[in-house]
Amino acid sequence: MKARKILVTMALPYANGAIHLGHLMEAIQTDIWVRLQKMRGNDCVYVCADDAHGTAIMLSAEKQGISPEQLIDGVKRAHQQDYAEFLIGFDNFHSTHSEENRELSESIYLALDKNGHIARRAISQLFDPEKELFLADRYITGTCPKCKTPGQYGDNCEACGSTYSPSDLIDPRSSISGATPIEKESEHFFFDLPQFRTMLQQWTRSGTLQDAVANKLSEWLDDDLQQWDISRDAPYFGFEIPGAPGKYFYVWLDAPIGYMASFKNLCARTDYKFEDYWSPESDAELYHFIGKDIINFHTLFWPAMLTSAGYRTPTAVYAHGFLTVDGTKMSKSRGTFVNARTYLDHLHPEYLRYYLAAKLGPGIDDLDLNLEDFALRVNSDLVGKVVNIASRCAGFITKGFSGRLANKLDDANLIASMQSAQQEIGQYFEQREYSKAIRNIMALADHANQYINDKQPWVIAKSAPDSPELQRICTTGLNAFRLLICYLKPVLPAMAAKAEAFLNVEPLQWDALNSQLLDHTIAQFTPLMTRVEMDKVQAMIDATKQEFNQNSSAVSTTVAVEDATGFEPEIEFDAFSRVDLRVAKVLAAEHVEGADKLLQLTLDLGSDKNGKPIQRTVFSGIKSAYDPATLVGRLTVIVANLKPRKMKFGMSEGMILAAGPGGKEIWLLEPDANTQPGMRIT
Ligand code: 2FM
Ligand code: ZN
Repeated sequence: MKARKILVTMALPYANGAIHLGHLMEAIQTDIWVRLQKMRGNDCVYVCADDAHGTAIMLSAEKQGISPEQLIDGVKRAHQQDYAEFLIGFDNFHSTHSEENRELSESIYLALDKNGHIARRAISQLFDPEKELFLADRYITGTCPKCKTPGQYGDNCEACGSTYSPSDLIDPRSSISGATPIEKESEHFFFDLPQFRTMLQQWTRSGTLQDAVANKLSEWLDDDLQQWDISRDAPYFGFEIPGAPGKYFYVWLDAPIGYMASFKNLCARTDYKFEDYWSPESDAELYHFIGKDIINFHTLFWPAMLTSAGYRTPTAVYAHGFLTVDGTKMSKSRGTFVNARTYLDHLHPEYLRYYLAAKLGPGIDDLDLNLEDFALRVNSDLVGKVVNIASRCAGFITKGFSGRLANKLDDANLIASMQSAQQEIGQYFEQREYSKAIRNIMALADHANQYINDKQPWVIAKSAPDSPELQRICTTGLNAFRLLICYLKPVLPAMAAKAEAFLNVEPLQWDALNSQLLDHTIAQFTPLMTRVEMDKVQAMIDATKQEFNQNSSAVSTTVAVEDATGFEPEIEFDAFSRVDLRVAKVLAAEHVEGADKLLQLTLDLGSDKNGKPIQRTVFSGIKSAYDPATLVGRLTVIVANLKPRKMKFGMSEGMILAAGPGGKEIWLLEPDANTQPGMRIT
């Protein structure tokens, strides 16, 4: 059969946060599919990239005192490392902030414009007059106009569920500066999606989408299709729109183009040809694996843009559901919002790959990672069933036959029946019915174990450790093991590599399922997988809770408020009591060249045990409220044990306590005049 040419992508992770279990579920689902294709001899390419643009990344870099480029470079390295350790076999991992992406985004936009698919008109939006930027709804908070709960986001109320526009909020505030937003007009660019209604009605019904997704979309398509706002005003981290100074492509415009850009980047160092995969005449297959929350971007805007710009459309878009942990949404305070790195500090990546495979289906239902079930399942299936087969047979072959397998099987039927499952199992993998594939594979493992139980090689070995019968029984067992490893290889590539070394064979391909291993010398058996220990699982959860407690500043930008109070999630008293608050006296206060919000303060914190004075330099965002000259000599309170932070303007060694909505209304905490620098405040 002719090899298929296949290009596969998964959703590009945002470059402003760590990879977590949710990302991993998608990466693992996609990786298993790609590995299956490669094992079957198809020419399958898997590309990804970081999604590096947008306001969130710009603000996050600013907060850390670094440039957005520095931020995304560091994050990219961390993302690649995490994915690699979970054995995600990308052929290329690029960035949307790349030259390839800039060129493609510009040329696609120019094509859309030329074809009359870009509209321009002024719209009015809320604007932060201090920060001088337009505010997306999530950067505006205020009191709900219906139920009057404070601290609600700009578009909907978490307490009463009502939806509204940000200008309806009572006392709206910019959550970036605390300022009261004003309404401001500016020109925006729109992609004219309604012109593609007929094309999309056909495309979404042409077998490209899962039924549930196609049904949902047909409701939207029959409804009122809206033009899509693809521009954002400066300041914005992204690509400037050609011919429109101060206007940038909205991050979601250039994100999917990042798939093409990553592939183009791969083409530059391989024999792959960009046009072979993206021209309308392409005979290659193109698949996007995504989460169900971003369906509209991939099944409406994206195919319409591709069509307008003269490229092919995807062969299929495969959406999956969300990952829950122990039955509920992942939560940082409960310790279930686990980062890839934290998982890797405690557990083997293939445990997760296997568990997710055992539960993944082709639909958009959510998948629950039940932590106890996780341990039980991995231990019983992989350690108890699969590895057990090899460990029950290998020793007798090594001892009695110098590692040599027999030239004949004891039970050819068992092996033949295991081989004949390949059609069905291969089909299940192909259709993303991984849980069914795993169920079948485990049924085969049960047969093999039953066979060994019946034959009791350990009984024969006692009286006749070199009998041909024993050799044939163990050869049958090890052939069964080899087939199981071959079936599981897309899911467990590292375990398969260890098994290949033990069996002393070349990397297994899918057609290895048609052969047997006879009259062949194997290597020494070493344990291929150890049991999942529940205390390690607990340690991972505890570590996640701890990261959350220690890192409350990161929390405020990355976690949605979890309850109706609008407060940050609870922290343990222990975490709070570790905050060391000390009286500090301002020795010097100065403006910082180039910083619009910061003052540089030199602080006296008393003296250490040897009488040596303790001084600290702190950068504080209080410039709008205080003239530096008036601060010198005043007492205030500092978080003395905050880890020093490198900011754009230098190292900040602590944080002084000041609060207020912003602008002139920021107040420095002032302790009683009788206190002394260095005194601890509780
Ligand atoms: O939702 C997200 O995490 C986006 N960063 C996904 C982008 S996918 C693609 F379009 F780039
Ligand atoms: Zn409300």
